[in-house]
Parts: sequence; C-alpha cells; structure tokens
Amino acid sequence: MADIVVVEAHTKVLDLDGRPRPFVRVLTRSDEKASVLADKLADLADVETVLIGFHPIRQATMEGQLAEALQPVAQAFTAFALHAFLDTGLARSIESGMADLAALADRHAMDPDRLSALLGYLVNERYLTRVADRWELTGKMRAVARIEPWYTLLIGGYGQLLPTIRELLPAGAPFGSRDAVAVGRGSCGISQYDAIPMIVSLLSGENALLGRIIDIGCGDGSFLASLIKQNQAEAGIGLDSDPGSIRAANESIDSWGLASRLSFQTTTVQDFIAAQSGDGRRDCFLASFVLQEILEQQGEESLRSVLRAISRRGSRLLVVEVEPGRDGLDMTTGLANRYYNAYFLLHALTEQRLASRDYWEAIFADCGFSVARSATVNPEVDSTGLEFGLLLSPRSGWVA
Ligand SMILES: C[S@@+](CC[C@H](N)C(=O)[O-])C[C@H]1O[C@@H](n2cnc3c(N)ncnc32)[C@H](O)[C@@H]1O
Repeated sequence: MADIVVVEAHTKVLDLDGRPRPFVRVLTRSDEKASVLADKLADLADVETVLIGFHPIRQATMEGQLAEALQPVAQAFTAFALHAFLDTGLARSIESGMADLAALADRHAMDPDRLSALLGYLVNERYLTRVADRWELTGKMRAVARIEPWYTLLIGGYGQLLPTIRELLPAGAPFGSRDAVAVGRGSCGISQYDAIPMIVSLLSGENALLGRIIDIGCGDGSFLASLIKQNQAEAGIGLDSDPGSIRAANESIDSWGLASRLSFQTTTVQDFIAAQSGDGRRDCFLASFVLQEILEQQGEESLRSVLRAISRRGSRLLVVEVEPGRDGLDMTTGLANRYYNAYFLLHALTEQRLASRDYWEAIFADCGFSVARSATVNPEVDSTGLEFGLLLSPRSGWVA
C-alpha cells in the first residue's frame, strides 16, 4: 500500500451538534485501496478518502486499451450481480452470519457451483471478502444494501429493457416492457427517502388530520402505509392497475398492523372514479409518479377528466412528479448522472412521459385546482431539484 498516505490520523471533527468525532483523512490514487481502508476503519472513525487524480500516459498496449474500454460492460455485469445478490436474500443471510457455501446453497435452494461463481465474482469486485471458507460483506457492499430500492427499480424493474434498446428505436416500434411489481416496490422504497418526507412537509401546515388518502398507483402499498403510520390521515385506499402490486400490498397489511385502516384495490383510477360518487371532501387523493404514466398510456384528455372529477368532488390532490431536465444542470456527475441519466432514458423507452412543472401547473389550473403548497426533495438526499411535490386545493374552496 505504498501509494496510500494518511495525512491526518487521530484527529477529531465536530458534527453539526458540536459533538467531536474521530476522523482520519487518507490520500490515495487507488479507489479500491481507499474503499478497503475506509471499510477497515468504518467502525473507528469518520474516514475521508481523497482520490489523487493520476493520469498515466494513454495505455499503449492493446490490453490496456481493452481494459479501459470494457469498463462499462463490467459495470453492467456488476449491477446485475449485485441486484441478484440482494434480491435473493443472499446478502441478508451472509450478514446474519450464514457464511458457509453449502449452508447458503441449501438455505436458498441454489446450485453450489453457480452460487460459488457469483460470490467469487463479488469478491473480485470487492463487495465481499473471503477468509478461509467464509464470506463477509465489505463496507462497499453494505453501502449498496442500504440503497437497495434504487437497484430494485433500475435493475429489477427496468433491467429487462436494456437488451431491447436496439429494437425499441425504429419509428413505430412498441414501447419497452418492465417488471411492474419491481417498479412499484422499488419506487415506493425510494420514496421513503425522497417523496414521503416531501409529502409530510407539504401536509405539515394542516391543522386537521386528513380523513382518507386515496393513493393512485400505490405500487406495493408501503408509501401509503408510511403516511398512515406517521398519522397523516385516518385511513387509506390504495389503487393500482397492476394486480401483482396489489397482491404484494395485501400480503403486507398485517405486518404493518394497519388492517383496520388500509385497503387496496386492483383498478385504474379512471374505473375507481367512475364507480364512486358522493361526498369526497375529506378525501385527499395522492398521485406520486403516476400522472406521467397516465399521460402517455391514456392520453392528456383522460388525465384531465380524472383531475376534473377529483376537483369537482371537493377533494384535494397531492402530486409528486419529476421534471424532464433543467437548463444548466450538470448531468455528468452526482445523482444527476448516476440516477437521472438512466431515468430519463427509460422513461422515453417505456410508456411514460415526463413533463415540466409549468406544464403540470397549467393542466391543474385548467382542471379546477390551485397550488396550496409546493416543495422539493431534501437536498441532502437529492440536490438536483428535479423532483417536486404539490398540494392542490379545489378552487371552489376546500371545506374540512
Ligand atoms: C412508479 S409507480 C409509483 C409508486 C408509488 N406511487 C411511489 O410514489 O413510489 C407507478 C404505479 O402506478 C400504477 N398505474 C399506472 N397507471 C395507473 C392507472 N391509470 N390507475 C392506477 N394505477 C396506475 C403502475 O402500475 C405503478 O405501480
């Protein structure tokens, strides 16, 4: 490890509450060594790794050029391998102490040779370590496991799209397909970090508990369950056109302890509204990442009639949407690059249409709503400002 320099050891920094924390700063040219060291020190100190940019003369050999140019291919394999490792529960089994190959293969009903190949692959990518016959997660793996919903959405939900990009490009080609259950589960999982806190902040000025939230496109139901658990409403109904998502939601109701306050229905919002009448004044509809789907799948006129029906009932509407880009936003770094770059591509290839905030606000105004409050995501989670939330009131006046 000659190319690692520990610049500051046994030092302390102050956190935002003024409490001292042990701190180590490491300078290195090697991303891999930085991650190994950060992993080893993770329980002892805050570790700052500073990567020293080192740009050797362009690789002269064929092998050097090959290794560099193959990096995206290797990353694609790694993303799918990590998703499989998480989604099968292997990561959880190893974290809970089951680290012997035969026991793992037995627990997960897997072929030991193939499992061994996957684990070996992840060792080489430094997501696992192998000591004698036991595997352990590295800090790098734990960091991935902490944000599993992003893998569930992008790889579990949209991974099947990637081999078909070529076929989706010709004029008149159909839209690409996705795994709807994984999309709903991943999206709701991500929402725990971004959209749900944003919705809670939109509702924080309310002086009375909402009566009922009707969640349009509820996915696996965990978004709505979170809002009810956080006492944002007395009860909730989740609607989703995908039967697999509603099955998953119904399977979780008891574990959330919300059987008396929550119910789920497999239906489109259009059919739900057509079947309902009466006084919805204490209902608040929620449309999180779903108006973009209705817009492309059923068209703007169908979307407008849904919105008009909600405002005519005297119901409010909470909306979460994502802008399709922003002038001046650097798409080459950070979350803009690692998440939104793919997000924009997959929306264009599947049956969804992102639209600007101005576009949405004009439609909401036309359909009888005014914007009561607006918010963006906590910038510590997402500083791009692309995702926004609106609380809309029916213009005729909301009667609590
Ligand atoms: C991206 S997920 C959003 C999940 C969740 N609302 C969230 O904020 O994380 C969109 C969901 O809307 C559902 N959906 C699409 N069109 C719908 C419609 N017309 N009526 C009801 N659900 C619909 C899809 O099946 C999918 O589960």
